[in-house]
Amino acid sequence: MTEPTRHLIRGGTVIDGTGADRLAADVLVEDDRVAAIGPPGTVKADGAAIHDASGLIVAPGFIDVHTHDDNAVLVGPDMTPKISQGVTTVIGGNCGISIAPCVMAEPRAPLTLLGGGAFRFERLRDYAEAVAAAGPAVNIGLLIGHSTLRLGAMDDTTRAATAREIDLMRERLGACLDDGAIGFSTGLYYKTNFPATIDEVAALAELLPDHGAVYTTHMRSEHDGVLDSLEEAYETAGRAKAPLVISHHKCAGPNNWGRSVQTLKSIEAARQRLDLSLDVYPYAAGSTLLEPDWIDPEIRTMVSWSVPHPEHAGRDLADIAAEWGCSQRDAAVRLNPAGGIYFQMHEEDVQRILAYPPSMIGSDGLPHDRHPHPRLWGTFPRVLGHYCREKGLFSLEEAVHKMTGLSATNFRLPDRGVIREGAFADIVLFDADTVIDMATFEEPERPAAGIAAVFVNGRQAWGKEGATTARAGRFLTRH
Ligand code: ZN
Ligand code: CU
Repeated sequence: MTEPTRHLIRGGTVIDGTGADRLAADVLVEDDRVAAIGPPGTVKADGAAIHDASGLIVAPGFIDVHTHDDNAVLVGPDMTPKISQGVTTVIGGNCGISIAPCVMAEPRAPLTLLGGGAFRFERLRDYAEAVAAAGPAVNIGLLIGHSTLRLGAMDDTTRAATAREIDLMRERLGACLDDGAIGFSTGLYYKTNFPATIDEVAALAELLPDHGAVYTTHMRSEHDGVLDSLEEAYETAGRAKAPLVISHHKCAGPNNWGRSVQTLKSIEAARQRLDLSLDVYPYAAGSTLLEPDWIDPEIRTMVSWSVPHPEHAGRDLADIAAEWGCSQRDAAVRLNPAGGIYFQMHEEDVQRILAYPPSMIGSDGLPHDRHPHPRLWGTFPRVLGHYCREKGLFSLEEAVHKMTGLSATNFRLPDRGVIREGAFADIVLFDADTVIDMATFEEPERPAAGIAAVFVNGRQAWGKEGATTARAGRFLTRH
C-alpha cells in the first residue's frame, strides 16, 4: 500500500503556534506542506486521507530546543521518546557537546552524554549524510559545541586556548556553519569548557551573525554565581553581536532558591539591549554527569547510569552510600563514570521561569541513560497537562507558542513552528483534556497520554497504534 501524500485533518481546533487564539478549522496537507486551512467543511480534498480531529487540538509539532539527541537520531531513529510527546523537531549539540566535528574512539566526559560510538564525523556534512541515511522520525538541527571543539583542537583542556588553537576552532566552526549548523553552544559549567575565557568564547561566537546562527549557553554557574554568569553571557553575546539563548535556566542549590525573581529581572533588563531568549524544562530536578564534586548531601541525588555498577541506576545515592558505609561523595567516586539526577531546584522557581513569557520549552533529555530523568519522555505533555491545564500557569495558546512558534523564531527555523499555508506540515493532534506526562522518576520511560497523531514533513509518524513506519525527519540547515 502506498502512503497517502494528501491528508485532510478535519473537525479540529487549530492553535497555530503564534500565540493567536484557537479557531475551528480544517487543515489540508499536501506533500510536505500545509496546503490549505479553512472553516470546517470548506476545504476540498479529493483523494486525501481523512483524519477526524473532532475534540482535538491541531497544533504545530513541538520543537524540543534543548536536546542531546545528536546520536539518538542515528542509533534509535524511531525516536519514540520524542515523537510520542508530539515533538517533530529536536535541536542537538547543546551544552557545549556536539557529535561533530569530532573523531574520537573513546569519548571523554562530558561527551559521554551522547552515548558510545558517536564521534566519527569530521565534518558536519558527514553527519548530515548519516542522518539522511538513518532516516529519523523527527527533524534535527545542530549546534556546534565548544567542548567538542576544544577537545579536538587542544592537547590540554584545563587551560584557556592559545591564539593558534582559537584559529583552528574558528576554522572548524566556520566550516560547520557553512554546512548549515544553526548555532554554537557552550557548557562553561563542564571541566572541558570552564577554562575558556570570554575572549575565547566571543572569538568563536562572532562567526555566528553572518550565518544567522545563535549562541546558546549552559552557563558557568547556575548555583551561587548565577547572576554573574548571566552577566558573562550578556557580555559574550554583546561582543560577538550574536543572538543569545540561556539554556535550561534554573536557580540551583538550596542557597539560591527564590532567586529567579532576580534572574528574570536581570534577563528582562538585558532583553532591552540584546537579542536574548531562554529555555527551561518543567521539573525541579536536573540531570547530568554524577560528579563527586557536585554532590550536595542537602539534596536528593539519584543515579541515572553507572559503568561499574549499572545495577544501581534508578537508586538514590544516599541509599547506596548507606549500604556501602561511605559518604555520598565517596559512593559517587566508586560509581563513576556515571550520571545523576539532582533534586536541586525549588518548584516556585521552576514555575516562575516557565511562566515568564519569553521562556521556551526544551527537555534536556538524556537518551542514552539507563534510568533517565523523566523529562526525556514527559516534558511537553507535562507543560500542557500539568502546568497549563492543572496549574493554570498560562493559556493553552501560550503553552503551545512556547514550544513551537517562539522556538522557531528564536532558532531561525523558517516555515516551522506554525500552522499556516505554505509552512512545513509538522503537526500534532492532542486532547487538551487528557494530555499528560506518564513518565516519573521511578518509571521514567512511560509514553505520555493524550497525543493522538503526529505528522512530520507531511507524513504520519504517530497514531492510535503508536509509531508508524514513516520516518520523514530531515537534517535542518540554515539554508
Ligand atoms: Zn546543560
Ligand atoms: Cu543540556
